[in-house]
Amino acid sequence: MNEISIVILAAGLGTRMKSNKAKVLQKISDEAMIWHILNQAFELSDDVSVVLAHQKEEISKEILANYPKTQILSQDLAQFPGTAGALKEFSPKNAYTLILCGDMPLIKASSLKEFINENALNVGVFHSKEPKNYGRIELDEKGNITQIVELKDANEAQKKITLCNAGVYGVKTSLLKELLPRIKNENAAKEYYLTDLVKFAVQKNELVKPVYVDEAEFMGVNDKFELSIAEKLMQERIKKDLMIQGVIMRNPASIFIGARVVFEGECELEENVRITGASVIVNSHIKSSSVIEESKVINSDVGPLAHLRPKCEISNTHIGNFVECKNAKLQGVKAGHLSYLGDCEIDEGTNIGCGTITCNYDGVKKHKTLIGKKVFVGSHTHFIAPVEVEDEVIIAAGSSVSGVVPKGSLFITRAEKKIKKDYYYKKFQ
Ligand code: UD1
Ligand code: MG
Repeated sequence: MNEISIVILAAGLGTRMKSNKAKVLQKISDEAMIWHILNQAFELSDDVSVVLAHQKEEISKEILANYPKTQILSQDLAQFPGTAGALKEFSPKNAYTLILCGDMPLIKASSLKEFINENALNVGVFHSKEPKNYGRIELDEKGNITQIVELKDANEAQKKITLCNAGVYGVKTSLLKELLPRIKNENAAKEYYLTDLVKFAVQKNELVKPVYVDEAEFMGVNDKFELSIAEKLMQERIKKDLMIQGVIMRNPASIFIGARVVFEGECELEENVRITGASVIVNSHIKSSSVIEESKVINSDVGPLAHLRPKCEISNTHIGNFVECKNAKLQGVKAGHLSYLGDCEIDEGTNIGCGTITCNYDGVKKHKTLIGKKVFVGSHTHFIAPVEVEDEVIIAAGSSVSGVVPKGSLFITRAEKKIKKDYYYKKFQ
């Protein structure tokens, strides 16, 4: 098969989602629905278009940030509403076109290949125990499709049909161009239905072939309940693939992994772990109830109950419970308990005592804390950034550190100790 063009329909209002956020920007496994579809579409073609109207600016910004080669098309929703109205501007480069909907985030490129062949028109279908709002598929005695009836237009007998339209079409581009202008809005919704393509193809004596697909993989996500089902299925898929790749997961049902997270080597995740963004985890052990956002963790252990916020790079390091890091580069460090380490670089062999805090924000700007090699930081230390501690320094417990601390020194700030004997009895007698 020669190259194909792909168009993704994403101009609808997404009313059933009941949200100010556009339907295709709703997240599944930490990425927008449209991200998942583009991720698969670009595996099959370089000519990928997305049709937008409602919240066009926001959606195109998100799309182009991740997939800059995507062509953005517009739909005039007022004049030409409906899935066929969406294709008015579409001018594919290639002889065969794959049409996808923006609300089917679970589709895989390997399954979409089934739609690309010499047939005039292929339509994705599945049998469903719960056909809900899906368009109903009618077949002739040879098993070819004769028409698709939308639920709103279906009679009682048609409503009982369990064969559903998945909303994916493979079509000869020439046929698509010829038939689109014939589609009218003479239906209950007064919309231009793409599903009418079938009716006109049949009138031309073209064969319309069903492609039987998996209902779960091709489910349409229209409301927040379906969003939750798609999320669950996507999580199961991501985690299964990772476990087969070699990642150990304790109670995997309680773990959440974003679609862009990458694991290398031997990793172990305990229960309730959440890892998101473009995080990379290499040969590391992430303990119970830890959260890692957009960070790199290499040869380290993190948690339980630790929080790595974006832009951390942690290597050969032990991060213990109740430690929060943000934009922190830690190499060969031990930070065992209760600390906030933000906007800092900490070098090899350094021990961070319990209750250490980087005071990185002065109310206007963020400042850096630099701590060198083999530094011993006593408990309850504050680093008032900007601050630099050179190698081999001892910071006494309870110090407030500022400025530059030279190599090899002891740094101590501590209020003078006073004991007033029998003070308690004088005060409360
Ligand atoms: C559509 C199909 C239905 C199928 C189902 C599969 C039609 C008429 N119906 O119904 O047969 O079973 O998908 O999930 O095609 N869109 C536009 N412009 C519009 C309207 C919609 O671009 O004017 C986009 C939406 O953003 C969405 C996609 O097309 O991504 C499908 O629209 P949606 O409203 O979800 O259609 P369904 O009712 O699910
Ligand atoms: Mg839909």
